[in-house]
Amino acid sequence: MVSANDLVRLATAAAQRASQYLRTVERPRDPTTWGAKGPADWVTEVDRTSEELIRDVLLGAEPDSNIIGEELSPQLVNRGLVWIVDPLDGTTNFLHGVPVYAVSIAAAVDGELEAGVVLHVPLERTYRAWKGGGAWLGDQRLRVSTHTNPRHSLIGTGFPYSDFTTLDQYLAQFARVVSHAGGVRRAGAAALDLADVAAGRYEAFWEQRLSAWDIAAGTLLVREAGGKVTDFSGRGLGVEHGEIAAGSPEMHAWLLSQLWEAES
Ligand code: IPD
Ligand code: CA
Ligand code: CA
Repeated sequence: MVSANDLVRLATAAAQRASQYLRTVERPRDPTTWGAKGPADWVTEVDRTSEELIRDVLLGAEPDSNIIGEELSPQLVNRGLVWIVDPLDGTTNFLHGVPVYAVSIAAAVDGELEAGVVLHVPLERTYRAWKGGGAWLGDQRLRVSTHTNPRHSLIGTGFPYSDFTTLDQYLAQFARVVSHAGGVRRAGAAALDLADVAAGRYEAFWEQRLSAWDIAAGTLLVREAGGKVTDFSGRGLGVEHGEIAAGSPEMHAWLLSQLWEAES
């Protein structure tokens, strides 16, 4: 049994390897070289190479572990040691040269999140968390925001960008939140949105449709920083994907109330 500390160390080493690569590789500027998994859902050789580098580090050290990785092995597995990997979160930002993208790696044991690392590549910031050990940026312990007045809050979100079947629901949610919060931001990398919640920069965050690799590491960061992460009904999340609402306990409750109001 590998300790949570060792899992964080290994995830950090793998994220650093990918980050070195992402910092030096030429960004593919020609859209005809971008592959699409759906409308405006881009994937490039860069995403795949990053995931290969991460796999080499993780499986080199833990050959019996499994990987749920966005590009190479997206099937959900729940038993034993499972790494949940987004090799490049914020691909659209990366492709356009917007310096907001990350590598996200979580470790789950029998379906329970044990460790998480989110590395902000352009800023070279590494966020780490492990179960019961807190959330950290370097040697600084992270805590969720203590602001409880919605008018003082900054709320993160992700817009629908490929599947617009629930756009009307999203626009109603957005209208409700933007008119009652201090501000709303769409930065374009969900793992970093969750790191922003853990670090107390955003009071809360919501998005309608995310995958396990977008949120696994960030979920542990938020929980270990004292925050809550659920679906829009307030149910806890497993490693499966879907809607997500995260925040400090007070602002998470406020956000859920706004999302419910938007349905009525
Ligand atoms: C995307 C980003 C984005 C979110 C999308 C994700 P990708 O991840 O996290 O912020 O809105 O839903 O798919 O595709 O850049 O890894
Ligand atoms: Ca992602
Ligand atoms: Ca990705």
